[in-house]
Amino acid sequence: MKTENIYPPETPNQAFTVGAIAPEKTLSPFFSDDLATVYLGEACAVLRQLPTNSVDTVITDPPYSSGGMMRGDRAGQDCKSKYQQTQTKKVYDEFSGDNRDQRSFIMWCSLWLDELRRVAKPGAVIGCFTDWRQMPAMTDALQVGGLVWRGVVPWVKKSYRPCKGRWASQCEYLVWATNGPRSLDGPCFPGSYTCSVASDKRHMTEKPVDLMHELCRIAYEPDAVILDPFMGSGTTLKAAKQHGKKCIGIELTRSICETACDRLREAVQQDLLV
Ligand SMILES: C[S@@+](CC[C@H](N)C(=O)[O-])C[C@H]1O[C@@H](n2cnc3c(N)ncnc32)[C@H](O)[C@@H]1O
Repeated sequence: MKTENIYPPETPNQAFTVGAIAPEKTLSPFFSDDLATVYLGEACAVLRQLPTNSVDTVITDPPYSSGGMMRGDRAGQDCKSKYQQTQTKKVYDEFSGDNRDQRSFIMWCSLWLDELRRVAKPGAVIGCFTDWRQMPAMTDALQVGGLVWRGVVPWVKKSYRPCKGRWASQCEYLVWATNGPRSLDGPCFPGSYTCSVASDKRHMTEKPVDLMHELCRIAYEPDAVILDPFMGSGTTLKAAKQHGKKCIGIELTRSICETACDRLREAVQQDLLV
């Protein structure tokens, strides 16, 4: 019986062509242009088909699965009732994967992070967004996935909901790690970013493009390839394109993937915040 080739053959330092397919598999992009390649599919399944040692930087924003203190919080709660304020009229596409409890969240993240480690080049930066509640889970998962946890970069939001008698939840966090040792060459980067929440959003939990633009600077190598396996509306890829970088996105929900592709068709190279 022919068995599935789960990992493509190890070919360290193999040259990477965006849109390349792994041997014995047909991985067809949903969209591609000179810089961006987008796959419609489940992150782990697509990652398994990407070549080893092929991306320089991963910046991603997986479903946080935050806030489920009780079983009842997680059962049947859609993203709209979780993320949208009641006065918001706009209708966003629902997305899945946001209702795991903390133990299954750690296990799930460590599965795709382990696969990401294989796809990432040695020394690559892997940055994953999370909130204060899920931060311990995400830092555990990064390490279970075999990555070296390096730090936490707060995204400080300019506007936030004040809370009487308590500190506001004004930040989300990019937890970052490297795929083994990383050289100490390259430019210096700040330890936090202050930026407004995205206006005129196309995705319920869309990140601001200015923030992603700044974060993409970490991929400073001239031919760096940036990967976002939970692409949503494609903000990371849009920012990567602004820098003239090759980029790969994966998204599970077709309608969201289509939104990302529409944005990517319009995205052009620029340097927003020098
Ligand atoms: C937090 S959102 C990302 C939003 C994105 N940063 C943006 O600016 O639009 C997470 C995305 O991951 C997608 N997703 C959830 N589970 C997935 C999986 N197993 N594989 C691929 N995508 C997944 C969801 O559909 C959702 O669009």
